[in-house]
Amino acid sequence: MFENLKYEVKDHIAYVTVNRPKALNALSKEVLDELYQAFTMVDQDPEVGAAILTGEGRAFVAGADISQMVDLSGIAGQDMMKQGALVMNHIEEISKPVIGAINGFALGGGCELAMACDIRIASVNAKFGQPEVNLGIIPGFGGTQRLPRLVGKGMGKYMMMTAEMVNAQEALRIGLVEKVVEADDLIPTCEKIAQTIMSKAPIAIKAVKTAVNNGIMLDVKTGIAFEGEACGAPFCSEDRKEGMTAFLEKRPAKFENK
Ligand code: CAA
Repeated sequence: MFENLKYEVKDHIAYVTVNRPKALNALSKEVLDELYQAFTMVDQDPEVGAAILTGEGRAFVAGADISQMVDLSGIAGQDMMKQGALVMNHIEEISKPVIGAINGFALGGGCELAMACDIRIASVNAKFGQPEVNLGIIPGFGGTQRLPRLVGKGMGKYMMMTAEMVNAQEALRIGLVEKVVEADDLIPTCEKIAQTIMSKAPIAIKAVKTAVNNGIMLDVKTGIAFEGEACGAPFCSEDRKEGMTAFLEKRPAKFENK
């Protein structure tokens, strides 16, 4: 189905694996196009409740494809950044939860791809960084905006200005990832998280995504007003009645995405 990705659906989880291990899964234009298509499939397939995004081999993704960028004109380079940023926004905005399983290098566009996921779980081998200034550019797939929102302005600038890599434990300390696990436990841990999230009311999960993603860009008062609007869909859902009734009847809820 894809040339540069593996895509598989099992037990309602879509597994999206960037599959260019010889180039450390660098994001070429073709990979970016395929990622956009894959996450559209995740969004539209009613059989899929969550996605796990990872990389084949020793990297998650080592950045945008430098070999494709080296000869680009300034305008074409900027266009490639804008294309990548649209793909990251798409991944962030789909209605299903996306869990990043960060198995190795997550550098430049790879760190930006990880940050577009809702939740990041790192293997002990993972390494993160925004080394763009080594190449004479800046992060262009959303990194200057998403990184400070996750790790703070100072640490974000530190990483982007020094181009230093941080290991998984440091990424955990600064809030760039949610958990660090042994390499063999990476996918099982992500599967467990996906199953947990999928056991909840899907309309509520979607509303959490929308409220957080949009609210974080607003001042707190406007964000809370946005949250007020986002409460509407879950409160109007049949799943809300089921969830509350199940609680009162002391039984597990059976959600139907209605
Ligand atoms: N683009 C294209 N090819 C890449 C690549 C990238 N981002 N990263 C690695 N590769 C290729 C290498 O060229 C090499 O290919 P060959 O075998 O054909 O020579 C192969 O992957 C293996 O890489 P290394 O031999 O370099 O492996 P290493 O273990 O010695 O080093 C590394 C690993 C530290 C990750 C190193 O590959 C590296 O520094 N990669 C570049 C990281 C980077 O600068 N990323 C940012 C890119 S710019 C960007 O992403 C902008 C943006 O905001 C979107």
